[in-house]
Amino acid sequence: MSRLLQRGWSMSDSSKPDNATRGYAARVAEIEPFRVVEVLARATQLAAEGADIVHMAAGEPDFASALPIVEAGRAALARGETHYSQAGGIPPLREALSRHYADTYGLDVSPSRILVTPGASGALLLIAALLMNPGDGMLMTDPGYPCNRHFMRLVEGRGQLVPVDASSNYQLNAQLVAANWQDNTIGAMVASPANPTGTALSREELTALSAEVRSRGGHLIVDEIYHGLVYEGTAPSILEVDPEAFVINSFSKYFGMTGWRLGWLVAPEAAVAEMEKLAQNLFISMSTMAQHAALAGFEPQTRDILEQRREIFGQRRDYLLPAVQELGFSVPCSPQGAFYIYADASRFTQDSEQFCLQLLEEHGVALTPGVDFGHFRANEHLRFSYTTGMDRLELAVDRLARVLG
Ligand SMILES: Cc1ncc(COP(=O)(O)O)c(C=O)c1O
Repeated sequence: MSRLLQRGWSMSDSSKPDNATRGYAARVAEIEPFRVVEVLARATQLAAEGADIVHMAAGEPDFASALPIVEAGRAALARGETHYSQAGGIPPLREALSRHYADTYGLDVSPSRILVTPGASGALLLIAALLMNPGDGMLMTDPGYPCNRHFMRLVEGRGQLVPVDASSNYQLNAQLVAANWQDNTIGAMVASPANPTGTALSREELTALSAEVRSRGGHLIVDEIYHGLVYEGTAPSILEVDPEAFVINSFSKYFGMTGWRLGWLVAPEAAVAEMEKLAQNLFISMSTMAQHAALAGFEPQTRDILEQRREIFGQRRDYLLPAVQELGFSVPCSPQGAFYIYADASRFTQDSEQFCLQLLEEHGVALTPGVDFGHFRANEHLRFSYTTGMDRLELAVDRLARVLG
């Protein structure tokens, strides 16, 4: 720990730039760093110095992209697919995604309503840019994926953080929407399964949430990026109950393509033309070769690989969840999906950021502090990612058992 502090490296330092005197926009000072990236950078640095670090901070699959995807990308490059492509995505990929909705959920989603984006991040930016006027608010959970509120701020709106805990499965529900809706609220945003908690919304909960938001004339955005990575129960798509909702999704997680930067959104038909216009201006096009690679994600031999990986994630979860609880962390809601466990560490610390730094520096275990995901009891929580092999998870649990007694 002291070594770290002597270097002047702190996860909070970079959130306090003197932007006003530099003439930079006020919004930038309110956008906080993505702390997990800093944890990862420090973990990588320590590993380069020879430390044996168990990486449980990353929010991405540890597996490299499946071989058929890599080969399709290579073939696209060899064919010269190196030019701009359509702003909404190449037609075969939009059609493959439309078939994906039919096969997975039995839904008829026209390819024209599906826009391919640079990651779920690009989808989020398009939706924020489409919906938010300056001063508008969007309800979202605290804890939640940190970039959501920052995207809202970027377009001069606000994430309106609703503290959630085990009583609502760490999710927004109709009651919370009703209780927290303000004059400037224009909608609500949820993720199912969610980051960092892994909890998912049932069909009934999605229906009630949608009805409440619609009764207020609001928009509903559902981030379904962790669909496909569900180990307990099911995670229905919001489109099964509300075809007018905005859906965010990605090739990053289930398809294991984080570095290719490819995602998609589903929008109501009426919104598509405006969103394509925004996409043309913001991105011109997505990576053309990445889109050709992603097409291979729907091939049966790739799906077999991805399903095997889902099973491996499930086995890791089944090992880690009880192990974390035995260590003394509390996990009041069973994480149904994604690859995270959001643990209450209040028995050990009231400063999870320092706690995580100490575990990293002195014990070689990289975890993400709760402060990355909001404010509500953030200092008492941390996130375990099971994005490393079982032997490494066991090593981490052994190390933590020694430290925590
Ligand atoms: C809930 C959620 N949404 C969106 C993203 C962004 O993913 P990408 O831009 O890689 O598709 C992430 C990444 O961790 C996430 O956890």
